[in-house]
Amino acid sequence: MALFVLVPKVMNQLTAKILNRLRASDGFLSGGELCREFGMTRSAVWKHISRLREKGYTIEAVSGRGYRLESTPGIPVSEEVLPLLTTDRFGRKLMFHEEADSTNLRAKILARQGATEGSVIVADSQSGGRGRMGREWVSPPGANLYFSVILRPSVPPVRFPQIPLLAAAAIHQALDAAVEGVSPMIKWPNDILIQGRKVCGILCEMESEPDMTHFVIAGIGINVNLRDIPQEIEEIATSLLLESGIEYSRPGILGAILNRFEPLYEEWLEAEDLHAVLDYLEQHAWLKDREVKVEHYGGSLAGRVRGIGRTGELLLESTDGKVHAVSSGEARLCKGTRR
Ligand code: BTN
Repeated sequence: MALFVLVPKVMNQLTAKILNRLRASDGFLSGGELCREFGMTRSAVWKHISRLREKGYTIEAVSGRGYRLESTPGIPVSEEVLPLLTTDRFGRKLMFHEEADSTNLRAKILARQGATEGSVIVADSQSGGRGRMGREWVSPPGANLYFSVILRPSVPPVRFPQIPLLAAAAIHQALDAAVEGVSPMIKWPNDILIQGRKVCGILCEMESEPDMTHFVIAGIGINVNLRDIPQEIEEIATSLLLESGIEYSRPGILGAILNRFEPLYEEWLEAEDLHAVLDYLEQHAWLKDREVKVEHYGGSLAGRVRGIGRTGELLLESTDGKVHAVSSGEARLCKGTRR
């Protein structure tokens, strides 16, 4: 597993400004220029450079030329993610934890305290990462993305099941663009698979009254640079690195997802249903035309998948030719069907 130096939660504002200045510079930036720009002494500049190095940034220092940023630690902290954002709100407030129990839990607490829409909570590892149906989400440090986005959709709670699909479309678009030589697929209602193995899971949770949504937490876990899949999930899980042989920037992937999620979400808020992403979901649907059994609240239903309805239901054709719209549940391939 890749080893990373961990970044303390908050970076001094001046240190962050110097980092951004180094980032914006093509080559070397002289110590004198930094002194002038930030009104500080050479030894103060040096202290900030040392601080950045301690945080895992590699900065070359050459006498007579100055400083040059060589590499960043690749940790999804706000200093790394914010410069990549094209959003108005999503990710503009980003809270990073080296370890959290669960980013969904952290997000829920912040949402109850009034955190604004689009706030993002990220963790390098989770001690109590949670998946759907009360399952655990294995969340080791240093390699993956675990984050939750706070949403405050001004729509009735009945539209809630559409949100995981919306998030799935945004994540799929970002991964499809970023990952070399593989074709991720969307598995209704909330997984992204590569070659039939899960690379991303989405856990959306809501607090509402019968007619009013207070907030939704969209929790997203992505196996990015994980090399060793824990034994208990090695049959069903994979990572972007294992599938493509390439290591990815976690801030880059997070930024790309938020950049796609915000406009899809804004469009969805104005619409009645999922029509803006329906074609996309169909084109990349892993279950399309497969025989599945869906375990849902109060029972199960088997049939062949015919598509996704406008409000996000799985359309299942049973052996008698009837098409059923299943609004939530867990779809499993029927025995004898290829993974
Ligand atoms: C699933 O496929 O069962 C959903 C998994 C969701 C995992 C993410 S990781 C970030 C966020 N925090 C959690 O505790 N869970 C979600």
